[in-house]
Amino acid sequence: MVGKADLLSDYVWGDCGKGKVGEMILENGNHTLVIRPNGGDNAGRHEKINGKKVGMHQIPPGFQDHKIDLYIGGGCVTNPISLCEEISDVRNAGIDLEGRLGISSKVTLIQPHQKYLDGVLGGGVGTTGKGIGFAYSDRAKRMHGDKRVDLRVGDYFADRKLAEEIVKYNLAILVNDFPELQDKKGNKIDIDKEWNKFKEAADKLETHLITDPLYVVRRLEAGENALINMANGYFLDLVEGTNPTVTSSRTGSGGGFLGGEVPVKYAGKVYGVAKFPMTRVGHGPFPSELGGNDSYKHCMEDSGYRYVADMEKAAFNVNEFLNAGDYLHLGIALRILGGEYGATTKRPRRVGMPDLVLLKQACLKNGADHLTINKFDCLEHFSRAKWLPGIPIVTGYKLDGKSIDYLPNTNTEIERLETEVEFIPHITEDLTGIRRKEDLPKSVINAVSMMEDYLERKIDCIGVGPENYQYVEL
Ligand code: IMP
Repeated sequence: MVGKADLLSDYVWGDCGKGKVGEMILENGNHTLVIRPNGGDNAGRHEKINGKKVGMHQIPPGFQDHKIDLYIGGGCVTNPISLCEEISDVRNAGIDLEGRLGISSKVTLIQPHQKYLDGVLGGGVGTTGKGIGFAYSDRAKRMHGDKRVDLRVGDYFADRKLAEEIVKYNLAILVNDFPELQDKKGNKIDIDKEWNKFKEAADKLETHLITDPLYVVRRLEAGENALINMANGYFLDLVEGTNPTVTSSRTGSGGGFLGGEVPVKYAGKVYGVAKFPMTRVGHGPFPSELGGNDSYKHCMEDSGYRYVADMEKAAFNVNEFLNAGDYLHLGIALRILGGEYGATTKRPRRVGMPDLVLLKQACLKNGADHLTINKFDCLEHFSRAKWLPGIPIVTGYKLDGKSIDYLPNTNTEIERLETEVEFIPHITEDLTGIRRKEDLPKSVINAVSMMEDYLERKIDCIGVGPENYQYVEL
């Protein structure tokens, strides 16, 4: 019998704890291949490897299980320098990925000029500054007149002379367009130096190169099961999300099959994950944001780098903020309590109420078979704010006075939305030690049931703490 490819993706704006759900799926299933189908080192999470905390960006979950192979699919863009660092961090923590991590030769390499351009021009979107969007746009552009501008991993190894020409040509244009641009050390851009650094890293990827276009299909045909582990979040999808303040890859479930090199014929179960409270990092509309525009302005100060974790924790009193009686301060307190700071950029994540309109749309559009809501234990943080009549949940939108049950397609319309908020009874219990449905307090059972009624679907699992084992299946 042929194998199946399950798919896991984030249903909001990223950072919903997908890594943890991925580990849960792998623990309970019999997958032997985990595929990353989109994005690059813009995604981020922390993993504990042999007791050591390691920041991860591109290597998919499952890497700690030696029976599982990993594949970075053709839908991705990858920075060879940061990928090599990640591989070596993992090796230093005790796991060698040689022979287990495959990189499709169709993956586009993020070139130095793309990262510089993102630094100079990515501010409008509030990107992670990793060059992701510029790598995807060069991929789409392919050539500038008779000059190639995109460089794929396979092309790099097939013709290094051409690779050098492409990287240096792009850097020369960059230096011409931005003559004052400096590198990290404050020096003018040195094209040879940039190329050598890039080449040194890219060369190391050769042992991971997969040139067989049927690699994934052959394994599925042989009866193996795969997990497609998507990056970023559904509402950051280039087309489906809140364009232009989105990422540059397809983050909706269909994009996972294409980018993972998996024909839809092998589609297995579709898993989705959200978290409460909801968060968003960077620019872009966020209808349920606590404190609305004031929160946005606060989080984006110094391009998002003013209120990083240590700064906020040292400067603000959580208890005072919880009970200040307004949503802006409540949001800041919830961010500190929930540790909502970017794993990749350390920027404060904007914090918002659970939004069931958004979540329902994501479930419907991604075709969710299984839904996990992480950080359910954090709903208790809302309940520490004594002035709130209950936990606020968004259950409706009004656009120009008319009720609608979807997030509109343009940011102009989203900016005009009014949210309808309902309060559900407080959850005051500590859920972090609970593992069985039977042990959940009534407050949680009732909250889940209210949400399921709204979503018109089951919630299959809730996360109740930061560790991978802290979840309850419903
Ligand atoms: P880019 O992906 O670096 O181009 O950034 C585009 C937008 O997507 C920015 O608002 C980023 O903060 C956001 N973004 C990209 N990847 C992630 C992610 O994994 N989690 C959360 N936000 C992300």
